[in-house]
Amino acid sequence: MRFRKLEDMEIAGRRVLVRQDLNVPFSRGMITSTKRIEASLPMIRAAIDAGARTLLMSHLGRPAEGRAEERYSLAPVARHLSGCLGRDIPLVTDYLDNPPVPAPGEVAMLENVRFNRGEYDNDDVLSRRYARMCDLFVMDAFGAAHRAQASTTGVAAYAPQVCAGPLLLAELEGLDRVLSDPARPLMAIVGGAKVSSKLTVLESLVSFVDLLVPGGGIANTFLAAAGHPVGQSLHEPDLIGEANRLFGLAREQGREISMPRDVVVGRTLSDDTPAIVRPVGDIDDTDRILDIGPRTSEYYGELVRQAGTILWNGPVGVFELDQFAAGTRRLGQAIVASAGYSVAGGGDTLAAIDRFGLEPGISTICTGGGAFLEYIENRSLPAVKMLERREE
Ligand code: 3PG
Repeated sequence: MRFRKLEDMEIAGRRVLVRQDLNVPFSRGMITSTKRIEASLPMIRAAIDAGARTLLMSHLGRPAEGRAEERYSLAPVARHLSGCLGRDIPLVTDYLDNPPVPAPGEVAMLENVRFNRGEYDNDDVLSRRYARMCDLFVMDAFGAAHRAQASTTGVAAYAPQVCAGPLLLAELEGLDRVLSDPARPLMAIVGGAKVSSKLTVLESLVSFVDLLVPGGGIANTFLAAAGHPVGQSLHEPDLIGEANRLFGLAREQGREISMPRDVVVGRTLSDDTPAIVRPVGDIDDTDRILDIGPRTSEYYGELVRQAGTILWNGPVGVFELDQFAAGTRRLGQAIVASAGYSVAGGGDTLAAIDRFGLEPGISTICTGGGAFLEYIENRSLPAVKMLERREE
């Protein structure tokens, strides 16, 4: 990769500004997954051990710019991080006017960068203000590297020196291994609600994977395109033409789009709705497809066993409800048991990995969702391009 890495840089005693993706999910004020915080620890520990004066910055949620709303504050993240590191990580709010300079080996966290006017628009003035806070800017937020914003790309244009952090590097290397010279067959599992939100990535996948397995609402649209009834299932009638076009593209290029053989249906999206297994051609008008069926699980499990490389983004069912969790759980377990190289990423995928305890068996876990898909599609991300530009 044509940019500098943390290991190439001298950081002792220097002001190091680190962009991380600490955008963690919350429910009723509590952090529900700390994965991204844990993934950010190697960078922070390296900075502490080297005696850097470290400032951490991140976004949280999508607040309206210029307004510091408490529900988007990084305070709970700073508290959790303090616990992980066994030291106090203070949260600084007025850093644009009074840039803090921690002592060597100390760390402070800056409040949500999206509270600052100009952050979303990659404003030049704001970018320069961030850049003045440091001697070295470290981009370690893979999950936000697809955003060209002031704290991801703008600051990197003006900081005295820039480099990639260990998490960004590991995630890029994991994805490059899949994209550049994958062990074949290469299988991609792409779940999610809508074909429309993943259309371009599906198209790009069809041209280089051997086998594409759509899941969730995306699979329902493909089922409808193949002429199967889908009842009340989440699907996009407007995208049936596109799904047929992708079937055609796959055929032309000798690739396969694999479809479920049976599914689990329910009437409503609730934990007390009974789950019924049906063959794909036998869906009632009132049914909703909420998971893949046991025959499909077995078949997909076999495909995973034969795969040399597996790319996983998105669950294949509503795994949050117990009676519709088996398809995603069994697929995840097959990936864990497989001898192939696996990369999994995306918010829902991370939640499923957490829920079923799959993490130790997956070769590379990507903390990014949108960034993961954009990298597969474009083989590049704006914040990474900026690091490369600085190297030129
Ligand atoms: C994510 O959750 O995918 C990243 O943190 C990026 O967040 P954003 O989509 O709000 O930019």
